[in-house]
Amino acid sequence: MSVVVCENLYKIYKSGEIEVVALQDLSLHVDKSEIRAIVGPSGSGKTTLINIIGGIDKPNAGRVIVDGMDITKFSEKELLNYRRRRVGIVFQFFNLIPTLTAFENVELPMVLAGVPREARKQRVRELLRLVGLEARADHRPDQLSGGEQQRVAIASALANDSPLILADEPTGELDTVTGRQIAELFRRLRDELGKTIIIVTHDVSIARISDRISRILDGRIIATITPAELELAEIAPTRTQETITKLEDRRQQILRELNRIEEEFRDKKIDAETFTKRFNELKSKLKAIEDELAKYTV
Ligand SMILES: Nc1ncnc2c1ncn2[C@@H]1O[C@H](COP(=O)(O)OP(=O)(O)OP(=O)(O)O)[C@@H](O)[C@H]1O
Ligand SMILES: [Mg+2]
Repeated sequence: MSVVVCENLYKIYKSGEIEVVALQDLSLHVDKSEIRAIVGPSGSGKTTLINIIGGIDKPNAGRVIVDGMDITKFSEKELLNYRRRRVGIVFQFFNLIPTLTAFENVELPMVLAGVPREARKQRVRELLRLVGLEARADHRPDQLSGGEQQRVAIASALANDSPLILADEPTGELDTVTGRQIAELFRRLRDELGKTIIIVTHDVSIARISDRISRILDGRIIATITPAELELAEIAPTRTQETITKLEDRRQQILRELNRIEEEFRDKKIDAETFTKRFNELKSKLKAIEDELAKYTV
């Protein structure tokens, strides 16, 4: 069953005379306990989509159903409640409050949701343990590495135990090893805690642990594939390139051979009959190769 359903979403930003269509007729279905990766070029609408599913922004048209509820029909009060209890968001930038420690940053969403003090403190400790940062509880963001900051941000997104986690480029600025650790954390959140996770990412280690990958272009989902299919699609162009290179090499070889027999014929090293025979053979080979090459070039 789909726990997140986006139907025919449109989002148009107006600034003065200029209109930017950020989402156009976008539909998306995400299952419970699924990790869905969202990939696509800069400006294609990924953050806009996350903000709409997260109840931070509203679409101009279309519906977003989360757990059977149409959040686009929510009142401000219902939206506030939704954001505090139903969804945890790891933003693309500015996740942590610089003046608060790691502990306080993770605690903040629970303070806002009115969780009692003792329960809160215990939960923060659990969450910091989950992301492997118990020892950094008293550090401020500027005293943490990029990967550690992102892990604190993830812990904070998990604070209210919301069933849906949205993450916008959570490994964007990180090295591959840290990226892999964060991917592993998301995998555990799905497998051990049954979270549904939608991640905007360009990170292959995250794409690999996802259940499906949706590609967004110009505000629409243009394809949804599995990681296995993604791998194939990545290998295919390499194979194609290899084939083209081979064919091109063979073509050059035949052209050189043609030149050579022309010279030999001019220098009277071969007779007209031999030349004609070789020439026709090579020409027909050349044509076959050029026909094959034509299949690979549009
Ligand atoms: N508040 C806004 N006002 C006007 N236009 C906006 C606003 N926010 C986003 N846009 C435009 O909407 C389009 C989609 O933006 P969005 O931030 O969703 O892209 P993105 O896929 O997240 O890109 P990136 O990979 O660079 O983060 C872009 O053309 C952007 O310029
Ligand atoms: Mg973005």
